[in-house]
Amino acid sequence: MKITFFSTQPYDKLFFEKHNSDFGFELEFLEAQLNEQSTPLAKEADVVCAFVNDRLNETVIHQLAQQKIKLIALRCAGFNNVDLAAATRYTIKVVRVPAYSPYAVAEHAVALIMTLNRKTHKAYNRVRDQNFSLNGLLGFDLYGKTIGVVGTGNIGQVFCTIMSGFGCRIIAYDKKENESLKTIGVSYLPITDVFAQADVISLHCPLNEQTRHLINEQTIRVMKKGVMLINTSRGALIDTPAVIDGLKSGQIGALGIDVYEQEEKLFFLDLTGKIIDDDVIALLTSLPNVLITAHQGFFTHEALTQIAQTTLQNIKAFGDKQVLTNEVKS
Ligand code: NAI
Repeated sequence: MKITFFSTQPYDKLFFEKHNSDFGFELEFLEAQLNEQSTPLAKEADVVCAFVNDRLNETVIHQLAQQKIKLIALRCAGFNNVDLAAATRYTIKVVRVPAYSPYAVAEHAVALIMTLNRKTHKAYNRVRDQNFSLNGLLGFDLYGKTIGVVGTGNIGQVFCTIMSGFGCRIIAYDKKENESLKTIGVSYLPITDVFAQADVISLHCPLNEQTRHLINEQTIRVMKKGVMLINTSRGALIDTPAVIDGLKSGQIGALGIDVYEQEEKLFFLDLTGKIIDDDVIALLTSLPNVLITAHQGFFTHEALTQIAQTTLQNIKAFGDKQVLTNEVKS
């Protein structure tokens, strides 16, 4: 069985080739993003393996169906970039990696908080320039602060556990409450109360029609002045222009993001020396209280190992006509 991988980087090749020794598939790695123009590149493939910024809309899925592709194997958890209804119509199955080291993403969210708060990124550069002054580096104790968490699934749960270790008060909102978190002192509240009471808000819910632009002008208005906002989930959970207004007015005190609504043309690429045609990210990167990482929350050895193993196992199950435990349906 031939698998064509889109949007690949050297580390994808490294991990998938290593773990493919247990499976023996034919692997083809392409740097191109999957979109309306690039589908013909998979014309020899049986399976297409896609990542977070590949575009799997109706047109692309139709083209893949014409090329006799029967399986789309996502090597990620989120599937908001796939038109699942179209996949069903064209009888293409979609599988994903539902859970791979929730620690990787939760720990990255904590890294964003710690860096924004204690400004270690600035301190590092200062000291290297022999500037030993502390002016401008003032932070706050996390101990005793209120952390608001939206979405307490795999990643949100780990994040709550870590933050409770810091001695924080944790308040959360999820459509489905997690009983085990209550035993460590997490309180579930209506989402507006979470927004109103939290010193730090971290988003760990999926992107869907209910959560798109969850952080917008109205919700920002109810937040505590100077709130720190962290998003490691999906860019479109945030209405970025509204957040920029919040940063300018001081309503939002700091922003840490690992995801960005328009990331598809930027993230995972080395654009050094290029003119970036995106004024929003240009403005964000110029603000001193904004920290952006380029979708690296998942990027740990453990997570990449799990992603490769589960993706190849999903494809094997499909080839063996077994039940697809990691299938996503509309
Ligand atoms: P999960 O499915 O285990 O948990 C998501 C939680 O959100 C569930 O408890 C669900 O009930 C809740 N939820 C659903 N709709 C909601 C709503 N309207 N309001 C509040 N809560 C809602 O997912 P997991 O593994 O924890 O991942 C969370 C998100 O993290 C993913 O959807 C993905 O977008 C993102 N992610 C980011 C990565 C990165 O590298 N930055 C890597 C992996 C995932």
